[in-house]
Amino acid sequence: MAAAPEHHTGSLKEQIAKVFEVSLKVTVPDEPEVAPLIAVCSKKEAADYQCNNAMSLWSKIKGKGTEFRGPQPVGQAIMRNLPTSDMIESCSIAGPGFINVKLSTQWIAKRIQNMLTDGIDTWAPRLSVKRAIVDFSSPNIAKEMHVGHLRSTIIGDTIARMLEYSKVDVLRRNHVGDWGTQFGMLIEFLFEKFPDGEVTDQDIGELELFYKASKQRFDGDDEFKERARKAVVALQSGKEEKYQKAWAQICEISRRGFEKVYERLGVHLEEMGESFYNPYIPLALKELNDKGLIKDDEGAKVIKIIEGKKALPLVATEKDGRYSYASTDFAALWSRLPEEEVKWIILVILQSGTEEKYQKAWAQICEINRKGSKIVYQRQGVHLGESLNNTYIPLALEELDDKGLIEDDEDAKVIKIIEGNKVPPLIVTKTDGGYNYASTDLAALWYRLNEEKAEWIIYVTDVGQREHFKKIFAAAKSAGWLPADESKYPKTSHVGFGLVLGDDGKRFRTRSTEVVKLVDLLDEAKTRCKAALVERGKMAEWTAEELEQTAEAVGYGAVKYADLKNNRLTNYTFNFDQMLNDKGNTAVYLLYAHARICSIIRKSGKDIEQLKREGQMLLQTDDERKLGLHLLQFAEAVEEACTNLLPNVLCEYLYDLSEKFTSFYSECKVVGSAEETSRLLLCEATAVVMRKCFHLLGITPVYKI
Ligand code: ARG
Repeated sequence: MAAAPEHHTGSLKEQIAKVFEVSLKVTVPDEPEVAPLIAVCSKKEAADYQCNNAMSLWSKIKGKGTEFRGPQPVGQAIMRNLPTSDMIESCSIAGPGFINVKLSTQWIAKRIQNMLTDGIDTWAPRLSVKRAIVDFSSPNIAKEMHVGHLRSTIIGDTIARMLEYSKVDVLRRNHVGDWGTQFGMLIEFLFEKFPDGEVTDQDIGELELFYKASKQRFDGDDEFKERARKAVVALQSGKEEKYQKAWAQICEISRRGFEKVYERLGVHLEEMGESFYNPYIPLALKELNDKGLIKDDEGAKVIKIIEGKKALPLVATEKDGRYSYASTDFAALWSRLPEEEVKWIILVILQSGTEEKYQKAWAQICEINRKGSKIVYQRQGVHLGESLNNTYIPLALEELDDKGLIEDDEDAKVIKIIEGNKVPPLIVTKTDGGYNYASTDLAALWYRLNEEKAEWIIYVTDVGQREHFKKIFAAAKSAGWLPADESKYPKTSHVGFGLVLGDDGKRFRTRSTEVVKLVDLLDEAKTRCKAALVERGKMAEWTAEELEQTAEAVGYGAVKYADLKNNRLTNYTFNFDQMLNDKGNTAVYLLYAHARICSIIRKSGKDIEQLKREGQMLLQTDDERKLGLHLLQFAEAVEEACTNLLPNVLCEYLYDLSEKFTSFYSECKVVGSAEETSRLLLCEATAVVMRKCFHLLGITPVYKI
């Protein structure tokens, strides 16, 4: 098989962009920096994709003595100058100059066939970053690994997998909490209980209980407290071996507990805990100090965080009482957000230079947008129609006012955009001279940038740590470790996630006070799946091993998928009945859908490898074409999920894929039809893409049900 021509790689959008790039160069030779703006067509029935360059190009060139007489002629010229391409079947102009693109059905089929022969890896998106670090899972030694860590493990693993698939060199880092002051207390308690120093795992028993007991001792006795404090110093000085040994022992017992969870989840991580970075702290802090960033603050050493530049307030109500331009936009946002279905809100801001302000104001109003909707600010583009219903303005403004955001300003009402140093400083050395979580993270960041040469460092923790990371990143920017421009590398991202809730809407716990044991949770998912399979008579049909493996794949897959399918910022409710339902958007449903496709192929009795070599795919009906096009959009979904660090984007893609397959399969006869070969190939391609999605989500596929 000859290598595909160069322009046949990358995502579909990217490939279309390449064709338009050629035309743009010819159409507006004086604007060489204009990049093609390609999007999925807003009217799916009209076309597949659209090119949105005409309008912005027009406003760019209109004063410069151009021969064009408006955006539409610009669009027409772009269309005329397109090079011939077997990818595009036809183009047409819509509205003020959008170019609708219909892809060639034959080309789509060809691309899918190529993938079947060359493998799904040829569809991997290409990212511009070479090496990334994903800092995830990261539980704390001697403490319970709770569901928050489970979320971090699941989300972090998926992000790492997607980046790896996109050919990024990924360092998977487990930043375990193995260096806190808690060790003084633990070690001292250990010495007290086992004075000869010879302890075994059994002696310590369950580490959490050991932790609790030592904490009790710590809280109740000042003399013990003092000894514990000294023990920390002894440990951290590294001079006394017995402290080192006790520490290592406690870490090892914890580690074995964590490993059990990772093993069940099939997650691989490399432990580089807080202790690893300890020797680098003085170095990192010295650099920051040399840059004049570290200040004394009542005995502690701190970094003052200054956020952004000063901004003018955003006017909500003008001096004469009229609602401002901004208030209409808030009303529009406000009225749309409560709708559960709203995933995207495109705010079209025609006045350039204002969008940043909206973003900030919005961020202030609800730091995490309550529905997890995505708000996209677009300076120019599709006009959404007249300004939104005025009735929402008072409601929206009232909510802003309730949050204390609206202030009087010379008769006008304004929203002050918070900038400047309202944030408490970042403590990097405590009053007693000791280091803390932040000092370690600064040292870790220094190490990752300078020693590991990472270009993208991704931290996966609950949203509660957002402020911490914001400060770390801000300090690194002030020091020049990171570029001020966030679109440049190296860069850092905090991947925050919401809480896991129980059915009662409260933080998920098994019994009222206990946190959930992760291993038990995973075991239960598996047990329930097994019971369901036994009920369906699989005990007689399958080997014991098959039963076990399927129950495991489905059970663990269900737990992972239930977490990943939500926008990670939202809280989600942990519910076995829901996640193990074989209908709806669950892993069970999707895994079974995949198994069903495999069984269609099996039952046809055809050799699929031979069909791949000799058969031809044709996408004749509407459903076949829709399914085919969706398959080709796989790279786009992965790319979006990667760049925005949102695994739910891939889940949505996968669910959509199975729905499109269902439509196809209910409309088109496969086995025994005249189009059997072509349709079997389409089934196979769907199964291949589904499997890759499962793989990226850390889910093991099943082949029969
Ligand atoms: N150990 C921390 C916790 O359990 C998470 C560490 C996250 N990573 C980091 N580099 N701070 O909350």
